[in-house]
Amino acid sequence: MAEAILTVRGLSRHFGGLQAVNGVNLEVPRGKLLALIGPNGAGKSTTVNLLAGVLEPTAGSIALDGRDLTGLPAHRVAGAGLVRTFQNGRLFKRLSVLENVLVGAHARHTTGFWSAVLRLPAFRAEERATRELALELLDGLGLAGDAGREVGELPYGKQRKIEIARALILKPQVLMLDEPAAGLNSGEVEELIAYVSALRAKGLSILLIEHNMGLVMRLADRIAVLNFGQLIADGEPAQVRNTEAVIEAYLGRKKGSHAAR
Ligand SMILES: Nc1ncnc2c1ncn2[C@@H]1O[C@H](COP(=O)(O)OP(=O)(O)O)[C@@H](O)[C@H]1O
Ligand SMILES: [Mg+2]
Repeated sequence: MAEAILTVRGLSRHFGGLQAVNGVNLEVPRGKLLALIGPNGAGKSTTVNLLAGVLEPTAGSIALDGRDLTGLPAHRVAGAGLVRTFQNGRLFKRLSVLENVLVGAHARHTTGFWSAVLRLPAFRAEERATRELALELLDGLGLAGDAGREVGELPYGKQRKIEIARALILKPQVLMLDEPAAGLNSGEVEELIAYVSALRAKGLSILLIEHNMGLVMRLADRIAVLNFGQLIADGEPAQVRNTEAVIEAYLGRKKGSHAAR
């Protein structure tokens, strides 16, 4: 396997007596896409929240490109290059598309507080570059014509794309997508697959949290399967798909049975 850019060891989080995530080991190979799948309630979103610094782990470690991120707050994790989108987008409905993407950029600005307040040249140059990147990202997502529109006026499929742009403006080393296909129609899912494939082709490392098995099979270089907070499989898609425990846990039936889900 390619060298890992994100290495997760023994990641655990309980809520009272419930072990939502229990001793999970994950590796996202550099420039590849790892899909984390599992039935509802398996612990996928909790894992993303732990990785993003939104939740503190009860145990375990998270390292990005050799740098220990364990226990850092969310803005520092994002600033370090581990960036996520939210499953239920948190967009500002009354702000424009462009403004929503620029909001995402704040964790990245390197010029200091006074430089920003006084609007010194270094700050203005950085602001200009960020704005250009935002417009470029919107263009790549087919949203160039919508940059000035209020987010609340746009159809759901476009809003989901804005979430991706808002994450990418941080220039992540690893992008975490939490159920990006949820609520999309089949045409939009095809666009998403093409877009995510193109990101990976450019060298971005991706952790895809996804419930939709068809999507995962088409995109993943590697698949990890969670069930009741524990990993029950981790490997190449073809291999994982045929694992008995995965078929039972994830598809809710025994291998070879033709019963409907
Ligand atoms: N903040 C929380 N407090 C208590 N229980 C939680 C919390 N967040 C998630 N859980 C529980 O942890 C388990 C895993 O949830 P989650 O990570 O959302 O699963 P998934 O994203 O795989 O559907 C579920 O049983 C869920 O009810
Ligand atoms: Mg979830």
